[in-house]
Amino acid sequence: MASSTAAPHTVKWGIMATGWIAEMFTKDLLTNPATRDVHDVRHELIAAASSSSKKKAEEFLSLIRAPSSTKAYASYHELVADPEIDIIYVATPHSHHFQNAMLALNAGKNVLCEKSLTVTAAQTRKLLETAREKKLFFMEAVWTRHFPLSIKVRELIESGAIGTVYRAIADLSFNRDLPGGKIDFDDSNRMVNLDLAGGALLDLGIYSLTWVFQALYHTQPEAEKEAPKVVAAINKYHTGADETTSIILQFSKHKSMGIALTSLRVGTDVDSHNSGGAAIRIQGSGGEIQVMGPAYRPLQYKVIKKDGGGKIEVVDCPIPKDNDRDWGHGMFWEADESARCLRDGKLESATMPWSESQAIMDVMDETLKQGGVEYPELIATDVFDPQSPLNTGQR
Ligand SMILES: NC(=O)c1ccc[n+]([C@@H]2O[C@H](COP(=O)([O-])OP(=O)(O)OC[C@H]3O[C@@H](n4cnc5c(N)ncnc54)[C@H](OP(=O)(O)O)[C@@H]3O)[C@@H](O)[C@H]2O)c1
Repeated sequence: MASSTAAPHTVKWGIMATGWIAEMFTKDLLTNPATRDVHDVRHELIAAASSSSKKKAEEFLSLIRAPSSTKAYASYHELVADPEIDIIYVATPHSHHFQNAMLALNAGKNVLCEKSLTVTAAQTRKLLETAREKKLFFMEAVWTRHFPLSIKVRELIESGAIGTVYRAIADLSFNRDLPGGKIDFDDSNRMVNLDLAGGALLDLGIYSLTWVFQALYHTQPEAEKEAPKVVAAINKYHTGADETTSIILQFSKHKSMGIALTSLRVGTDVDSHNSGGAAIRIQGSGGEIQVMGPAYRPLQYKVIKKDGGGKIEVVDCPIPKDNDRDWGHGMFWEADESARCLRDGKLESATMPWSESQAIMDVMDETLKQGGVEYPELIATDVFDPQSPLNTGQR
């Protein structure tokens, strides 16, 4: 982003929840935008809320070295009522996203909500309707889409660098297999616990779908957008959550096909040394783009032309670090995008449009149906209840 002499637009953030991803995101929020050559927007951390206790929120603020003026709240209700906050980042488990994001929207707050956006497609529809009615900015926090690497890959596809794109294959899988049929997560862990919308698909498969959609759907001209037909299969864990899920997405009008894979049994990166090859392959009539994983935080892509005589163009895309804070994870780009949308009065981002979040959630909904995965009513309902245990922090 080019420098500008105008003062940067400042956006004031509230953080809902104090878990792992809240820590990653908020540390990114506190980095200096200039370290990534951003000069038109900046971020201010106003408050963080824990549904467990005020002490947990205070410990979180201390962990991330927040400015001393940052407020610690003991409930999500207090957070969304803070008049100083422009936008809430929802960092709770995806079981909670619908109720928590509705709580924020109903309090008049703009929202950046972690992936997977919701548990069901109907919940996503309701959230988007609410944001539209209330004229609030709303975006699913799929950080990878805002990486310069993703932007470059989309540009390559759109410019015809690999000809007509016919197929995309994407995988995000973790090898957490244990002897005796177990998976290396306690049954209560949100990765496999149905009460917390556990399973490979909603946690990891969303990234495989993100790459299929970036390659085959996002790049379709607006007037020709085609939702895919879905054929899916699921192997279930003993908790009832999906452990290995494979999805074929057919865009028949465009003659293209996506294959999205995810598993908690075998890893994309077999030995944790990137020996498994490309996590994503985007294949066109004139060549192929390979993205080296992990699919959520890729740092390198390759372009191989059909007539390139065996030459492989390798492009590294490192994540810039703020040396003063010794930090840089890559989530700041989605924060910058949110800030620019707020500055420009946009309710949705063109990089992660509402219609695309809905289309992806429709695919996941259909996949879970075909695979017979069912989540409990408390987390699957699309009726908003401000006093739901998911909003009041009852465990
Ligand atoms: N973008 C990414 O790369 C990325 C990576 C990991 C996860 N995620 C997404 O971010 C979300 C959170 O994941 P995480 O790894 O941060 O999870 P986590 O470490 O377990 O944190 C979740 C937080 O949510 C709050 N929470 C409220 N009710 C809860 C309940 N019943 N059980 C557990 N936590 C509850 C807790 O904070 P309080 O007690 O303070 O309220 C908890 O610390 C998920 O939707 C996940 O898919 C995204």
